[in-house]
Amino acid sequence: MSTTPRIFTPFTLRGLDLKNRIVMSPMAMYISDEGEVNDFHRLHYHKIAMGGAALVMVEQTAVHREGRITNGCLGLWHDGQLAGMKTLVDGIKQNGARAGIQISHGGRKSSAQRAWQGNGPLTEEDIANGEELWQPEGPSDFPFAEGWPTPRQMSLEDIARLRRQFSDTARRAIEAGFDLIEIHMAHGYLLQSFLTPLANRRTDRYGGTLENRMRLPLEIAEDLRALMPKDMPLLARLSCTDWIEGGWTMEDSVVLARELKARGLDLVDCSSGGNLVRGATNSSLARGPGYQVPFADRIRREAEIPTMAVGMIHTGAQAEAVLAEGKADLVAIGRRILYDPFWTLHAAQELGHDPDFGHWPQPYGWWLEKWARSIRAEGNTV
Ligand SMILES: Cc1cc2nc3c(=O)[nH]c(=O)nc-3n(C[C@H](O)[C@H](O)[C@H](O)COP(=O)(O)O)c2cc1C
Repeated sequence: MSTTPRIFTPFTLRGLDLKNRIVMSPMAMYISDEGEVNDFHRLHYHKIAMGGAALVMVEQTAVHREGRITNGCLGLWHDGQLAGMKTLVDGIKQNGARAGIQISHGGRKSSAQRAWQGNGPLTEEDIANGEELWQPEGPSDFPFAEGWPTPRQMSLEDIARLRRQFSDTARRAIEAGFDLIEIHMAHGYLLQSFLTPLANRRTDRYGGTLENRMRLPLEIAEDLRALMPKDMPLLARLSCTDWIEGGWTMEDSVVLARELKARGLDLVDCSSGGNLVRGATNSSLARGPGYQVPFADRIRREAEIPTMAVGMIHTGAQAEAVLAEGKADLVAIGRRILYDPFWTLHAAQELGHDPDFGHWPQPYGWWLEKWARSIRAEGNTV
């Protein structure tokens, strides 16, 4: 008797049913104009939904124009951006997936180059080519690294305004039809820069102790939970460690995850890194297959909250092992799913789970089942 691989078992988060455990990780495309959705976004997200992932996470989406990481970031900071977002959501759902959105503010890493321009601060040449430079805001008034713009230290009024912007964006995300919302608390962007002592040098109630540094992310989680429908999941992506001595640690992440859970958060998406020390990433960062899985495992056990593992998870067998070993509840796939938008359907083939191609879109599956049979009859593999 064949058993269903765990990655193809359903999962329920609050009131949301997911058909399997595979998630497309949020990945910024940097190709928007004024935060608007365009045809590239539609094709990109809709084809990944067609490729079988249970949940398609729309990339970091700015809650504020100045909170865009680059000039090309998506946004939901005004109502005019709603219609485009609805088309994204509708197509994801029509293709059989659930639609999630990561909402974000870039903080002191805002106003940067798009990835392919270099991922650094904007240069004179970028500006001459039409990229807009603005002064970012952050917890304190010192830059991300040498050569980056010096942020304006946020006042208490700015913090109150930011909370409203997260709430307003969440309301728009709900109106657009998203099934869940993830708060971006990772990678050195604004909320993570409040958390980490590497970026937060405030002396008021938003800085200093761990409790104070956690205050703003927790307030935002609380604000969102209060306005979201009861059955709609709320997630947070954390940088579980800065990988830098004197920075945010795994122990801090366990404390934060417990506090988030107490405020009604449903799942922690476990990433890491994003800050620099003296212009370089820390050498203790050892990237390899599944390198962040231990974070998802530890938070799941110690904070007793569902987790999502992400980072260099390449094959169906590898994803299956993460779940079989009880290290996470969901697995997010990033670059692999860019490389192969049908990764999930291919993983089912790899694990022998979908021999009749029944998971595929019907117009493909009918043909592929016969095609695969003839290929196998010739002694070849699909
Ligand atoms: C093109 C690209 C854009 C990304 N944008 C985001 C983003 O918007 N939000 C986020 O939290 N992480 C972002 N990431 C990180 C990915 O979500 C993922 O965590 C990372 O790539 C590791 O997973 P992988 O090894 O499967 O690619 C991005 C990564 C890539 C490659």
